[in-house]
Amino acid sequence: MRILALESSCDETAAAVVEDGRKILSSVVASQVEEHKLYGGVVPEIASRRHCEAIVGVTQQALDDAGMTLREADAIAVTYAPGLIGALLVGVNFAKGLSMSANKPLVPVHHLRSHIAANYLTSPELKPPFLCLVVSGGHTHIVEVRDYTDLRVLGRTRDDAAGEAFDKAARAMGMSYPGGVAMDRIAREGDPAAFSLPHPAVDGAPYDFSFSGLKTAVINLIHNAEQKGQTLPVPDLAASFRKAVVDCLVRNFVKAAQDTGSTTLVTAGGVSANSLLRSTLEQECGKRGWRLFMPRLSLCGDNAAMVGAQGYFEALSGKTAGLDLNACAEMPIDEKA
Ligand code: KG4
Ligand code: ZN
Repeated sequence: MRILALESSCDETAAAVVEDGRKILSSVVASQVEEHKLYGGVVPEIASRRHCEAIVGVTQQALDDAGMTLREADAIAVTYAPGLIGALLVGVNFAKGLSMSANKPLVPVHHLRSHIAANYLTSPELKPPFLCLVVSGGHTHIVEVRDYTDLRVLGRTRDDAAGEAFDKAARAMGMSYPGGVAMDRIAREGDPAAFSLPHPAVDGAPYDFSFSGLKTAVINLIHNAEQKGQTLPVPDLAASFRKAVVDCLVRNFVKAAQDTGSTTLVTAGGVSANSLLRSTLEQECGKRGWRLFMPRLSLCGDNAAMVGAQGYFEALSGKTAGLDLNACAEMPIDEKA
């Protein structure tokens, strides 16, 4: 089954063709990040407009790269939740138009489920069940993936997502949006023990996260230094912050794996590109004999290939939509179809 997939939930307009949920025939991503950088974050109205401008060309390119026409696609998959509502609506309405004009089934895909599916493309041998740490710009979850379309959330962030915390702390350190990548790079030159930062835990909820106190601690350190006319060593601060975030993520993820007896661990979402998170999980899983799967770097961020992968499994489970499909800004990952 060849699926034409579309993604427009945030600031990337993407289209891809994926075969049987595992093989990428084409993948095109048009990023708007340079424009949003000017404002220090994604401006929703600009994102929607840029999606409108890009989506036709990106989709045509994905079909051309796969060497096929729309008529040869077996289904159209589209991200319909969660995300920026105006941005999602562009992809959803375009996908509805394609589905109606070419008479193809329309498959709605949850954005975080698709991030998990990036692993099915990276590691064709990976099959559920497994435990997944979903770490994106807007969400941080520990998810039990019982089957491709049967998921259960064990823990979540109570405030900021990991990516959001990276971006906000990076901004306070003078890095441009999205700061997570820059912070990861600069942190490699710093001493992670230079600053003692909090490692917040949520009382009575060992799989839940809280990053806003940690983010505020760093921002306060920077402001206090500024008031005294001092500047703090950014590489040391970045290294200390990165280590604190990764320590919290790994602490809860390992505990959830131990408690549930899971020995196959998976990461998903933009923050899975973080080099310290990757190396720490490799060590932790290596010493326990657990299997670890992480998306290849090019599939950690938003793309449509992952939508085509998850779309395949959603279609197999019978999840298709009609022309009344709507986009939703919020939707739990474990909501039943
Ligand atoms: O999954 P994603 O592409 O978009 C959402 O669905 O939100 O995640 C984007 C997030 C941003 O916050 C970005 O700063 C973060 O992933 N990110 C990183 C790294 N690469 C991307 N955070 C830390 N270290 C990285 N290497
Ligand atoms: Zn994403």
